[in-house]
Amino acid sequence: MEALSRWQPKSRAARWFESRLPLGSLIHSSFIAFPTPRNLNYWWTFGGILAFMLAVQIVTGIVLAMHYIPSSDGAFNSVEAIMRDVNYGWLLRYIHANGASMFFVAVYIHMFRGLYYGSYKAPREVLWIIGVLLFLLMVATAFLGYVLPWGQMSYWAATVITNLFGAIPVVGEAISTWLWGGFAVGQPLLNRFFSLHYLLPFMIAGLVVLHIWALHVPGNGNPLGINVKSRQDTLPFHPYYTTKDLFGLAVFVLFFAWFVFVQPNYLGHPDNYVPADPLVTPSHIVPEWYFLPFYAILRAIPSKLGGVIAFGGAIVVLFFVPWLDRSKVRSARFRPVFKTFFWLLVACAVGLGYLGSQPAEGSYLTISRFLTAYYFAFFLIVLPLLGKMEKTKPLPTSISEAVLNDGKTAARAEA
Ligand code: HEM
Repeated sequence: MEALSRWQPKSRAARWFESRLPLGSLIHSSFIAFPTPRNLNYWWTFGGILAFMLAVQIVTGIVLAMHYIPSSDGAFNSVEAIMRDVNYGWLLRYIHANGASMFFVAVYIHMFRGLYYGSYKAPREVLWIIGVLLFLLMVATAFLGYVLPWGQMSYWAATVITNLFGAIPVVGEAISTWLWGGFAVGQPLLNRFFSLHYLLPFMIAGLVVLHIWALHVPGNGNPLGINVKSRQDTLPFHPYYTTKDLFGLAVFVLFFAWFVFVQPNYLGHPDNYVPADPLVTPSHIVPEWYFLPFYAILRAIPSKLGGVIAFGGAIVVLFFVPWLDRSKVRSARFRPVFKTFFWLLVACAVGLGYLGSQPAEGSYLTISRFLTAYYFAFFLIVLPLLGKMEKTKPLPTSISEAVLNDGKTAARAEA
């Protein structure tokens, strides 16, 4: 607030505008003067990368929608026409399709960063909850988008997922029929999926604004997980973190570009280049890689309803993380036992991802069950118990002391 009241535009016209709508002061206090902990590492650049990816998906998506036809007869061919006939259509489509994958790479890193450093703990619980809502919306948007090219995988993924609602007792069948707008996946479903796929990214954008607002109230966390105590612990966001974020983004964009220009179909499935055929079921229906861990959890439970509950539960449990973790210490740097369990969770997620791509039988299924049990045990047993039992390492007294060795060095550096 201090910075907000001090900033004044130079020109008279800008001052006239500013006194009526202080947009410049808001931007200045939030993204230029904003006091940011001086010890943020590169894992903190992923929030900005996510915002960038959202913009990329919206811009490429809007142009793709100008050429796409949401009809069960025309969708597949319209996508092929985008690839062959529309100027740079191939580029737009490859950016959008691989962009979805990159969005998930970034969000998984962002979420694991949050778990590792305890970013969800007080006073950032609402920020975390908005994050989980963002993740839910991202999952929905990606699923809806994958159906649009109306290839074999699009069609059968839509069939498998919408059929899951049928597992709900009593009303399940009615819900499936209502979702389909008929008695099977077809034209009405494609049309409504297109409509919603266009809508949800704007809801995501609105929630991102709330996410950043909720971040700017307590300010950023940091790798040490201790609170900012003095001005010496912080740096202005610009130019220190604008530069760091831009560098992180540039490296990420190179990684993204490798997929777009060198291996544009690596993350996709070849069956989606075959037009949807309701009479031919693919031998192996698999979702995109970013859904595989959840798909493995879904199939690990022997009953259909149980699978659906576990699948939903795997995301819903994230909402409660701020209250499940009872530890007073935020960062895993000072929680040696938690750190081990955290890396086991990462290994568990990767393992479930692999198992989700394999047939649900034999030892694949047995291991999926063990890993599913660990996933839930981490949140429901390890987090609450460890918070009470773990012996944590001593915390540094301040960020500047830890980063600059002692307060005197910090003072010299500031001078
Ligand atoms: C569209 C998706 C998202 C966008 C654009 C986004 C954006 C951001 C940005 C710009 C920051 C500040 C920079 C940083 O800490 O990296 C941030 C911080 C944060 N985000 Fe997200 N986020 C998204 C999704 C999520 C999700 C899914 C979660 C968790 C479930 C989450 C949890 C957090 C938390 C806890 C922080 C504070 C970290 C700290 O300062 O210690 N975000 N987010």
